[in-house]
Amino acid sequence: MTTVELRSDNAAGVAPQILAAVAAANAGSALGYGGDEVTARLEQHVREVFEHPAARVFPVVTGTAANALALSAMCPPWGAVLCHAGAHILTSEANATAMFGGGVLMHGVPGEAGRLSADGVRAALDAVWWGDNHVSQPAVVSLTQATEQGTLYPVAEVAAVAAVAAERGMKVHLDGARFANAVAALGCSPADLTWRAGVSALSLGAIKNGGLSAEAVVTFDETVAAELYYRTKRAGQVSSKMRFQSAQLLAYLTDDLWLHLAGSSNRAMARLGDGLTRLGAHLEDRPEANIAFVRLDAATADRLRAAGLLFYDTAPGTIRLVTSWQTSDEDVDAALAAFADVL
Ligand SMILES: Cc1ncc(COP(=O)(O)O)c(C=O)c1O
Repeated sequence: MTTVELRSDNAAGVAPQILAAVAAANAGSALGYGGDEVTARLEQHVREVFEHPAARVFPVVTGTAANALALSAMCPPWGAVLCHAGAHILTSEANATAMFGGGVLMHGVPGEAGRLSADGVRAALDAVWWGDNHVSQPAVVSLTQATEQGTLYPVAEVAAVAAVAAERGMKVHLDGARFANAVAALGCSPADLTWRAGVSALSLGAIKNGGLSAEAVVTFDETVAAELYYRTKRAGQVSSKMRFQSAQLLAYLTDDLWLHLAGSSNRAMARLGDGLTRLGAHLEDRPEANIAFVRLDAATADRLRAAGLLFYDTAPGTIRLVTSWQTSDEDVDAALAAFADVL
């Protein structure tokens, strides 16, 4: 029986280039808390990759920390963050944004295929009692890119949502736990998908895509960066040996490693998705990045598990499949053979 890992991209290992960069950063001594030369190079490199001369980068240890700290820096304590009803920040971060944001409320908005639409955001904002101190005042729209549902926001959709937010003086945040998968799949520039579309801060994921222990908040707005300077420290996220986190992120963003890794993960999912469609499986949405949801009864899911496939049930009758940079064509073909046997 071949085991095929499709539970999560978190289950994948660390890209060799990133491990090598950590080892290389271990030579000699360096100032702590980001005062080192690798962190300075990282910030310079982020400015080049995102084509933004004032972009700032704040390495943190988890995606939850990146999201909660970025959002707390963008939203007053009496404010609200609008996000998709299925957003990780709302469903899976134990109210971290509320804690770091001093009570910030999350407001989940429904939307097709895991995406918010500009019209949906406008309708939600039109229903707010603006200027009434009895109700939380929306201050941020947060989009997940790629979405929790494995779909994408094209550049124009990010810009359309951001335009609606701007009408109300709100800022836009991206939960980019899988931002590399989105950039690789859309083939656009990181700048077009963020600040040029109206995004003020990005939670830049790396760990799911070959990183070891570093994610980052990237800001394109000096007021957000000024808050984060203190908030990251207060949250215990300013690592004394930051150079090892910075080395990971620098390697990740160098020579398009992040896009190569994500492209490989996306291609594995495309091969899996195409194969499943040919087999007549019921996919919830066309997988656009590295996640797919398949409708499957429990008995069939059990038979797949018995055949060696590792995956999660996400709801009764639905399983989630996730590929990673490590998923090979052989893995995909073994998974498809197991599906062919049970479908
Ligand atoms: C969309 C999304 N955002 C954020 C996170 C948070 O990452 P972490 O588990 O590192 O806190 C995850 C992790 O699964 C995620 O899927």
